[in-house]
Amino acid sequence: MDRLQLLQIQRCEEEFEKALALGQYDRARLIALRCSELLRRLASENLSVSHILLEQARAWEQKAKNIHKRKEKRKDEYVDKIKILIKKSTVTWNDIGGLSEAKKLVSQAVGLSIAKSPVEPPQGILLFGPPGTGKSLLASAVANGLNATFFSVKASDLLSKYFGESSKLVSALFSLARQLSPSVIFIDEVDSLTMKRTSLDDAARRMIGTLLAEIDGFKDSTGKVILLTATNAPWDLDEAMLSRLPIRIYVPLPDVKAAVEIFKIHLRGLQYKLNLIKLAKEAVKRLYSGREIANVVKLASMKMLEEMNPELMDPLKIPSLTGKELAVRPLEMNDFKEAFKKVKSPVTKMEIRKYEKWAREFAI
Ligand SMILES: Nc1ncnc2c1ncn2[C@@H]1O[C@H](COP(=O)(O)OP(=O)(O)OP(=O)(O)O)[C@@H](O)[C@H]1O
Ligand SMILES: [Mg+2]
Repeated sequence: MDRLQLLQIQRCEEEFEKALALGQYDRARLIALRCSELLRRLASENLSVSHILLEQARAWEQKAKNIHKRKEKRKDEYVDKIKILIKKSTVTWNDIGGLSEAKKLVSQAVGLSIAKSPVEPPQGILLFGPPGTGKSLLASAVANGLNATFFSVKASDLLSKYFGESSKLVSALFSLARQLSPSVIFIDEVDSLTMKRTSLDDAARRMIGTLLAEIDGFKDSTGKVILLTATNAPWDLDEAMLSRLPIRIYVPLPDVKAAVEIFKIHLRGLQYKLNLIKLAKEAVKRLYSGREIANVVKLASMKMLEEMNPELMDPLKIPSLTGKELAVRPLEMNDFKEAFKKVKSPVTKMEIRKYEKWAREFAI
């Protein structure tokens, strides 16, 4: 066998490995078959080593067959991973207190996306604001209201190794969303998907590139897919991402009127004798978001239940509570005293001003 023939075999192997690494399975299969053909020809020309070359040729034919199986498996793997992202949404607009402006703007943007309109629909929507203000709730309510397939994903999940080849997963996600449309794709913590981050490896950069390209392809697609994203740190988004999210909606902390509504939502099903305005004012003073209001109500209710059912505090008596109806009384202002002390807001006045400034500059 001469040097040229050996080189041909070597090149064949290299091309095969490269195609595999790129996920080009059809191409890899063709290369494997070409390798086998080459080896069979060489076998007929080099009789002294023909048995070795024929054996290698058969090994390549087997490789070509295995690729077929691998391709099928890969496809299932992606679909399974994406299916985990499909969430059942039961949140309705009535479960969200306050945020009348944000609700209106989201509805308008979504309406433009799904109706036949002379105006080109927006590519993506960004919900931004302090933690716990109802951004995820808004996304769920949109999906539920449209009876749409709801894909909910955290950017950190997309970046995690668990998802492996995430750039392919992102393409598969958008493709499945189109198939199952109308769909809402909700990407939380979208600020972590910025190219500026030094910690990103090549795979993560590829994934973000794919995501940006998929968003660009949005308006040409036929299926109705709505892209909603959310962040607590809008200032960390880079130009590439921000320009693809032209509808930016501020989801602020509640004012007193909104806080009353949120208290009412979380007091549903409970009896109470409360001055809701007074509670709402206290919550606003403490810079509470909806999440903190929900927590305060939970703590106050726990206190009431403990008082009415002392056995709750006794580990030995817990088994006797199985199936037993707990004693209750209406919640009173007093139950909230300790709760307010325990629940702390995660934001400061200065941070709120930063959100407001960003909203003035960038929001619609
Ligand atoms: N406007 C609201 N009305 C009623 N409940 C609310 C509201 N905002 C927040 N909550 C309560 O707080 C919880 C958290 O809300 P949500 O997950 O929507 O916040 P978020 O803005 O997405 O927060 P994060 O930025 O931390 O992701 C909700 O499950 C709900 O119990
Ligand atoms: Mg959220």
